Amino acid sequence: MAIEMRGVSRVYRMGDEEVRALEDLSIEVKTGEFLAILGPSGSGKTTMLHLIGGLDRPTAGELTAGGVALQTADSDTLAAYRRTRVGVVFQSFHLIGSLTALENVELALSLNGLRHAERRTRAEELLRQVGLGDRMHHRPTQLSGGQQQRVAIARALANDPEILLCDEPTGNLDSHSGEQVMALLHELHREGRTLVLITHNPALVQEADRVLHLLDGRAQAVVGTEPAERPAPSASRRGTLRFADMLSYAWRSIRRVKARAILTGLGVAIGVGAIVLMVSFGQGLQDSVLGQLNGVGSVTQIMVTGAKGQGGSTFGVSLGAPSAVKPMNDTTLKTFSRLPDAQGAYYSATILATAKLRGHGATLIAENLPPQHFRLPSFAQQLRVGRIPGDTGQAIVLGDASASYLLAKSAKPTTANLRRLLGKTISVKFTSDLGSNGLNGSAFPTPVTQSLKIVGIVKGNASYIPYRTLQTVLKEGKGAAAQGRRGFLYDEVIVQARVQADVKPLAARISRMGYGTQTFQSIIDSLHQVFLIVQSILGVIGGIALVVAGLGIANVMIVAVLERTREIGVLKAIGARRRDVRRMFLAESLIIGVVGGVIGLLGGYLAGQAINAIVNLSIRGGGGQPVTLFALTPLIALGAMAFAVAVALVSGIYPANRAAGLNPVDALRHE
Ligand SMILES: Nc1ncnc2c1ncn2[C@@H]1O[C@H](COP(=O)(O)OP(=O)(O)OP(=O)(O)O)[C@@H](O)[C@H]1O
Ligand SMILES: [Mg+2]
Repeated sequence: MAIEMRGVSRVYRMGDEEVRALEDLSIEVKTGEFLAILGPSGSGKTTMLHLIGGLDRPTAGELTAGGVALQTADSDTLAAYRRTRVGVVFQSFHLIGSLTALENVELALSLNGLRHAERRTRAEELLRQVGLGDRMHHRPTQLSGGQQQRVAIARALANDPEILLCDEPTGNLDSHSGEQVMALLHELHREGRTLVLITHNPALVQEADRVLHLLDGRAQAVVGTEPAERPAPSASRRGTLRFADMLSYAWRSIRRVKARAILTGLGVAIGVGAIVLMVSFGQGLQDSVLGQLNGVGSVTQIMVTGAKGQGGSTFGVSLGAPSAVKPMNDTTLKTFSRLPDAQGAYYSATILATAKLRGHGATLIAENLPPQHFRLPSFAQQLRVGRIPGDTGQAIVLGDASASYLLAKSAKPTTANLRRLLGKTISVKFTSDLGSNGLNGSAFPTPVTQSLKIVGIVKGNASYIPYRTLQTVLKEGKGAAAQGRRGFLYDEVIVQARVQADVKPLAARISRMGYGTQTFQSIIDSLHQVFLIVQSILGVIGGIALVVAGLGIANVMIVAVLERTREIGVLKAIGARRRDVRRMFLAESLIIGVVGGVIGLLGGYLAGQAINAIVNLSIRGGGGQPVTLFALTPLIALGAMAFAVAVALVSGIYPANRAAGLNPVDALRHE
């Protein structure tokens, strides 16, 4: 049996009103039978056809067709039934207007997973069969009503269905085309297909095995004799829409609304561009700050302060007053240097001084040189002229910023001019201790004056004095105030770990002993945190632009679903599954997101590079070091793209689900 209907009803509810389109209809149609349906307008003929076609469900009764219980089948089973078992030729054709005749037929085949070459051959063959061999590349609007009717028949036959349903197949045709279609239907019936036709064409009614007369939704009479059951033609293949075909369909749909898609994509591009530009600016800032820090400090150093509570400060600035001062004297230095993992310990001090040379004066920021065996190789690279002295002796290495004040008025601090200062002895008056971080310093009760020989000049603001020499100055200058019970007290001590891995445990140990510690690593760590926050804030600002773009995508896709509701109905009617429709629409928003994202990424990168180049052009003009303001890392690029894809997906989900959930009959009826 091809079709079995038992007590089938279809009631439409419109508010309180009920329209009984079909009532208690029971009929069996044999495989290979030709059934004609006759009845006045509004008698329920199309309703019955939709039910048999699996496009609509009965509100009561049982309906089995092609071996599928249609009233209970799930949506995928129904879609598979529509795709492979049944072909429907609609009263008003329902072709997709943007596709050519050939593409309309091919679409039905691609839903069944046929590859391009295969489905083209088959579609061409079908169109030739319905007499449209010379109209394949015409769009529906370029075809006559009869020609459209025949395209619809070719599409219905595409997947070789066992059941063919036609709603007034000759209603729109002149007598000649009508005869052609009739001959075609006759041929299909002869092949063994089950045929259900709604028709007023007497010639067609004549050919039918039986005629069902409908009136007001009820079977009034069945005229004719039931034929013998014939074997069903071999079942057609059951594939599903290929991923590539789904993508290409989505791409075609986007191209139909080019301007809209470009504008929406532009929104995404601006959003992604903003993120890329902002975050890579944060990255550039971080790179240059941390890069400079890496140049000055040693990763194996631990700065120890007597005042506990300073260790956790950020940027070396203690916020609150130091809670307690634990004194550090020469014995403490020895204790530190004997700790396991410690290589040694030495004091560190910064003293403000003034220098005089033949009537020229300069202010100096004098630091002690570290003891010789702790000196960083990088320090020697700062040397402009001369040499760096040992741990003792009346010597000084001037910072070139201070040295320039000691030159004759008109002399520039060129290497040649600086070299003239070497060997000169200057009178240096040390006036105050600047303290461990330059904030909690104190003036010397009595300034200390020393005669020091200039042996070298380095880049920068700081000047350097041999370790032991400055120690003497420090002790003399601070006087009784810095004398503890067991000797002179230091503000800051540097403990040198053997290897970088020892820094953390060693610092923790010293901290437990009651001292404040700060490691270079901890400064970098806290800076990293600060920059992470900066980057996040900048990223969120850029992200807002992208989220707004996402609203644009959602908007465009919702409009697309509305505009293409009938097309969605057609897709479903010829067998597209919910997930096919959902993926098609999701793919559209993803394409907009990805293409926009890539353009934004490129734009953001190029804009950053351009600004870098312009800034460096002016910096180089002024003789400064080149900087990288915008640093785009792969992680930033990947993150921005991932965000764009996520936004596009989220924006597309609602419209895509809406499209997927449409009822085919309602969608087809949509204006
Ligand atoms: N979606 C709907 N909502 C409410 N009523 C409907 C709906 N679809 C159909 N009907 C009603 O169901 C009845 C049967 O409609 P149907 O389209 O099946 O008629 P038909 O026999 O195909 O008529 P025609 O020959 O004019 O095509 C009509 O009274 C119609 O108003
Ligand atoms: Mg009708």
